[in-house]
This record gives sequence, C-alpha cells and structure tokens, in this order.
Amino acid sequence: MSGLKVTVGKISFDRPGIVASGIMDETGDTMVRMLRSGAGAVVSKSVGSNPNPGHRNPNFTEVPCGCINAMGLPNPGIDAFAEEMEVAVKEGPIIGSVYGSSPGEFAELAGKMEDYGACAVELNLSCPHAKGYGMEVGTDPKMVGTIVKAVKDAVKVPVWVKLTPNTHILQDIGRSVEEAGGDAIVAINTLKAMVIVPEFGKPLLSNKVCGLSGKCIKPIGVRAVWDLHNAVSIPIVGVGGIYDHRDALEYIMAGASAFQLGSAVLTEGVDVFEKINRGLEAFMEEYGYGSIEEMRGVAHE
Ligand SMILES: Cc1cc2nc3c(=O)[nH]c(=O)nc-3n(C[C@H](O)[C@H](O)[C@H](O)COP(=O)(O)O)c2cc1C
Repeated sequence: MSGLKVTVGKISFDRPGIVASGIMDETGDTMVRMLRSGAGAVVSKSVGSNPNPGHRNPNFTEVPCGCINAMGLPNPGIDAFAEEMEVAVKEGPIIGSVYGSSPGEFAELAGKMEDYGACAVELNLSCPHAKGYGMEVGTDPKMVGTIVKAVKDAVKVPVWVKLTPNTHILQDIGRSVEEAGGDAIVAINTLKAMVIVPEFGKPLLSNKVCGLSGKCIKPIGVRAVWDLHNAVSIPIVGVGGIYDHRDALEYIMAGASAFQLGSAVLTEGVDVFEKINRGLEAFMEEYGYGSIEEMRGVAHE
C-alpha cells in the first residue's frame, strides 16, 4: 500500500483517508476501531474546556443525499478526554480537534491535546450550530489569524484549521491561516441548513438551524478545495460527501493532500476506508499514477 502514503506538511500517513471529526471518534475504543478499519488517521470529536451535553433531541436526521445534524458539540470536556486519547494514540495517529471562544482558550486546549499525544491539532472554526463558537469565530479573517497565531505559539505539533463553506471570503480566511503560520487547512465543515415538518408547522431539529453533510455537499467541498488551492501554498485536507474512491479523487485532483470521511462512515459502515483504499490502488494502476501526490491538483493543469 506504499502508493497510498501521503504527507500533510510535516506528518505522513500510510493511508490517505482520515476519519472526520464527530463520527466514531468520541471514545478511545471507536478511534482504535477506525484505525484498524483502514483509516490513515482519526480526528477526534471536537472537545471544549468543559463538559457539554450538546443540543437536545432530535438533533440528527437523514435527508435525500445527505444528513443534517445539530449535535451542538457534545463532549466530556478536555480533562476527561485524556483517558480516551491515552487509548487511541497507542494505536496510530490521532489529530485532536478543539473548539473555543477565544485565542487563549484555543491555545490552552491545543496544548492539552499535544500533551495527550495528538500528532496534530485541528481547530474547529467552522461548526454552524454552536453559539459563540465555530463559524461565529471562523468567518472573520482577522480573528482566525489571531487564534491560529496563539495556538502556534503554544504548541509544537502541526496546527490544522478547519474552515466553513458558509462564507463568500473563503480565500481571504485561508490566506489568514497561512499568514498566521497554520500548517494545513481542512475544508469543509457542514453547510447551514434546515428541515421543516409541514404537519407540525415547525423545524424538525431542536436547534432549528443545523449543518448539512453527505453526498449533496461534495461539489461545494471540491470547489472550496479548488479555490483554496488557488489562494494558499499550505496543504489542504478535503472533506465533504466522500463515499468512494472517485469522490476522493475529485478532492485530490482539486488540490487536496489527504481527505476525510464523516457521513459515509455512518451510512456505509467502517469498511468504507478499505473499499476506498482498494479503489484508489486500482485507479492508480490503470491510469499510471505512482502516488497520491502525483495526482494532487492535476485538474488545475
Ligand atoms: C453527526 C456529525 C457530527 C459532527 N461533529 C463535528 C465536530 O465535532 N467537529 C467538527 O469539526 N466537525 C464535525 N462534523 C462535521 C464533519 O467532520 C464534516 O466536516 C462534515 O460532516 C462534512 O463531511 P461528510 O460529508 O463526509 O460528513 C460533524 C458531522 C456530523 C454529521
């Protein structure tokens, strides 16, 4: 499988598919399971300073061609998460996802993830349904730069920054990440969305406004990676609607160095990574590519 090896800045992974934050990554055991199922790495659930129960039910539903959720970032808090990380990091590379409301809070959380053995940290600047967090801090290029700089000053591990597609200035935000020293950009998080039940005359999910993921967001994610590739030189990790190797190839050819899967793990099962790995190998053999890197960004040529 050496042709599947990828490098994202300073770190290498034996396989290019990574578990996206929020899916099968809330406990040490589920993270281990994903690493054993063909994922090259796992991004942990986004963790904050304090335990958070998240939004009340209903907070998830399937829609045609995708999923819609407003979990509200449920997590046990950074101190309790130490024991999950202890189990997971023994098995393989874990990227610690964190969310905060200020540069100092992000820096402190990232420092703890580094202490727990994370090979990189991912800053969630993009959740669309957590008041005061996520995309509320991630759509202001100046604030993004300040947060990234604070985290860079606090940790030695690479700092990945996960961006929202819910903006018309994605390239400006990407450039802020790069100028502040960010090591990679992860794109995209979910799109702001909503479902209304006509019989009730009310929104279906308790938080009303939610995030859309899955097959239907892939063209938006691919375009976001394409735009970022034209704006920055740091590596990009593509995410959004990847279900098979052809979806992954679209992201790679738009400029992604690696890719993440979220919703597909929920609907296709944990085997999806192995299927994608086999599909990529067969494609590379048929079309004469020796590595993922050789295919990266070819659609721009
Ligand atoms: C149930 C669920 C929970 C999620 N939780 C998080 C989270 O905690 N942090 C984060 O950065 N993204 C979170 N996401 C977003 C995913 O990581 C991913 O960016 C998004 O779903 C698009 O990828 P997909 O189409 O492969 O699902 C979540 C998505 C879903 C569906």
